[in-house]
Amino acid sequence: MELNVVKVYQERVTLAITGASGVQYGLRLLECLVAARCQVLVMISKAAQVVIATETDEALPGSAKEQEAWLTQRFSAAPGQVRVFGREQWMAPVASGSGAPSKMVVCPCSTGSLSAIATGASNNLIERAADVALKERRQLILVPREAPYSEIHLEHMLKLTRMGCVVIPASPGFYNRPRTIDDMIDFVVARILNQLQIEQQLMPRWGEDSLS
Ligand SMILES: Cc1cc2nc3c(=O)[nH]c(=O)nc-3n(C[C@H](O)[C@H](O)[C@H](O)COP(=O)(O)O)c2cc1C
Repeated sequence: MELNVVKVYQERVTLAITGASGVQYGLRLLECLVAARCQVLVMISKAAQVVIATETDEALPGSAKEQEAWLTQRFSAAPGQVRVFGREQWMAPVASGSGAPSKMVVCPCSTGSLSAIATGASNNLIERAADVALKERRQLILVPREAPYSEIHLEHMLKLTRMGCVVIPASPGFYNRPRTIDDMIDFVVARILNQLQIEQQLMPRWGEDSLS
């Protein structure tokens, strides 16, 4: 009888990359989650694909299946470690409380997706997955990027924070003396990994002199 090979991942995390500036944060987060041996269930909105083409030299393909193969190769993930789902793939695990991971990050989070999540729109798989995280009282981290914020944006962030979401603005600090853009990206990604309670070697925590 053939033995089933069971793949054990450190953690399962849902990652939605939406169309705010700073897709580099989302891609770096994915790289770190893969390196930390997490299985990552990924969704990339249409607008995020435009932003990726605008802000990076990455040649992300168009379909979810192609993106899955591309990201797997790009981040040297194990087969099945990175799974990508399309905007109306309602049978995906993230669409239901019984299948969704216990942790979800929207990084970066556009103000459009922020609004849809705050109002429970559920019009695409990203919005539905966030709605599932909210109804199941699971961890939901949002990384918005906009400047300045309108009253609407701030109201949505306050409402979601009161519901238990963690809002981590894509605003790197400077006390670590960043020398490169990668350093600034890692500042924000380290904050997200700390919230997810996934060990990171990107930045020492406050009060620690260096990474162990
Ligand atoms: C290059 C580019 C940069 C953008 N930057 C931002 C941004 O920083 N913040 C934001 O909320 N929206 C930004 N947008 C607009 C969103 O992509 C747009 O509102 C979109 O409808 C969001 O859809 P999504 O939430 O499904 O990804 C940007 C769009 C483009 C093309």
